[in-house]
Amino acid sequence: MLELKDIGITFNAHTPDENKALSGINLKINRGDFITVIGSNGAGKSTLYNIIAGTLKPTAGKIFLEQNGSVRDITGDPEYKRARYIGRIFQNPLLGTAGKMKLEDNMVISSKKGNKGLKISLNNRLREQFREQLKELNMGLENRLNDNVDQFSGGQRQALTLLMAVMSKPDLLLLDEHTAALDPANADLVMQLTLKFTREMGLTTMMVTHNMQHALDYGNRLIMMHKGQIILDINGEQKKNLTMEDLIAQFKKIQVSNDALMLQ
Ligand SMILES: Nc1ncnc2c1ncn2[C@@H]1O[C@H](COP(=O)(O)OP(=O)(O)O)[C@@H](O)[C@H]1O
Ligand SMILES: [Mg+2]
Repeated sequence: MLELKDIGITFNAHTPDENKALSGINLKINRGDFITVIGSNGAGKSTLYNIIAGTLKPTAGKIFLEQNGSVRDITGDPEYKRARYIGRIFQNPLLGTAGKMKLEDNMVISSKKGNKGLKISLNNRLREQFREQLKELNMGLENRLNDNVDQFSGGQRQALTLLMAVMSKPDLLLLDEHTAALDPANADLVMQLTLKFTREMGLTTMMVTHNMQHALDYGNRLIMMHKGQIILDINGEQKKNLTMEDLIAQFKKIQVSNDALMLQ
């Protein structure tokens, strides 16, 4: 559904700080894929997401989107336009929601899905719909529509961010270590909700994780990045048979120390 062709980006070109953060990235994301993405710090994972989401413009290559049978070059599309079909969740639970706004108003904004001009009026029918959706989180948030979101815990805010991102059924959901800042219990809760929503809705998903076990256990495909390149792309049966030893061997090959792996 999304294809990256020969994508590259160089930061601070022609200066002493020149940094080829990505080069020669070729990636075809198929509809329904759940891809786990691993790689040491600075490998280029977040930069890849920034390019997919339109936050950054690549200095080389093109991005194509296939929707309803037709293929479009979206390389020049700004981020707000892509937000209509790409959902994104960051590590920081404060980034996905507006703390000084009520829960219900946050949900109205996310219902607009990048469609700023769209008028959605908050009425009791919509509130009822929000309550039904919030019940899925099992956190009692359905009774707190009028509370400002900054009263919620990090786990609750991240679960809410997840719900708001999936509500609009994006063509692609980008998760960037979205459970890494949470305590273990909340991290597990948000992970389980992620699996439930993506499975139920059949969402195409890319999930960056530092948790090797998650990278192995979840999804149908795994990619490993190193120094701005995709050095491993494993699918289907091969992915099912992949073990922790295999992954560690791969990392050893590229001489990343166990410390840098941050094994959890
Ligand atoms: N806006 C930027 N300006 C300059 N360098 C950047 C910028 N964003 C990322 N980088 C550099 O690009 C490389 C990849 O970073 P990043 O994509 O954040 O890695 P990861 O998410 O895999 O840890 C790093 O060397 C980082 O310092
Ligand atoms: Mg990152």
